[in-house]
Amino acid sequence: MKLICVSNEEEMSLEASRLIAALVRIKPDAVLGLATGSTPLGTYEELVRMHGEENLDFSRVRTVNLDEYIGLDGNHPQSYRAFMNGYLFDRVNISPANTFVPNGMAEDLERECLEYDQLLEQLNFTDLQLLGIGSNGHIAFNEPDDYFTAHCHCVDLTHETIEANRRFFAEGEDVPTRAITMGMRGIMSSRRLLLLASGKKKAEAVAAACFGPVSPRVPGSIIQLHHEVTVIADLDALSKTGLFEEAD
Ligand code: PGA
Repeated sequence: MKLICVSNEEEMSLEASRLIAALVRIKPDAVLGLATGSTPLGTYEELVRMHGEENLDFSRVRTVNLDEYIGLDGNHPQSYRAFMNGYLFDRVNISPANTFVPNGMAEDLERECLEYDQLLEQLNFTDLQLLGIGSNGHIAFNEPDDYFTAHCHCVDLTHETIEANRRFFAEGEDVPTRAITMGMRGIMSSRRLLLLASGKKKAEAVAAACFGPVSPRVPGSIIQLHHEVTVIADLDALSKTGLFEEAD
């Protein structure tokens, strides 16, 4: 594991965007695995800037997102499809047809999951998978459980995750309780994992995922088994790793 320690969220985003931009320049038809949530926002903003000011070209890039809420249409402002369109896809020269997000409104959700895994196979998986981490250790919506789930699947979100997501919804609005998520096979088959974390609320999850035992109770710990993983985290997010304790 390569650990890049940065001083704050802004630096995390700059480092992450540089890595992604370098990949896109070296491999213009790269397949990027993308994530939603507040963590990657600065990264996307910087990629948009690079597109506008430094000719970063997305015309041949394809993207596959990690997850989507069940029951939200892609036009719903809190859907992950709308998130990706608004923060990245509509602001760079990517072809909409090259962007993939699970369909949370699919009539047959099992089939949607199966087809999402087939899509990953067809794309030969991703060149880079961007990941955030939940404060409960989840990656994508792979929630803590007794086992890792390999395939794309429907999941009941934990109370902690639903409450964490509530901040994005209007007061009184129902927060989705279920989601479709890429499974561990899709994530771990990526050629490179890039996990980002910032802030004290992620400190326990980062310590457990990076340095604790590999366990489905901390789904993010599975990244320790990947041969090419980069973690970019700020000092707050690394504050429970024991890496920066002052010597007596
Ligand atoms: P966040 O979510 O980026 O909004 O903190 C990360 C996650 O839950 O995976």
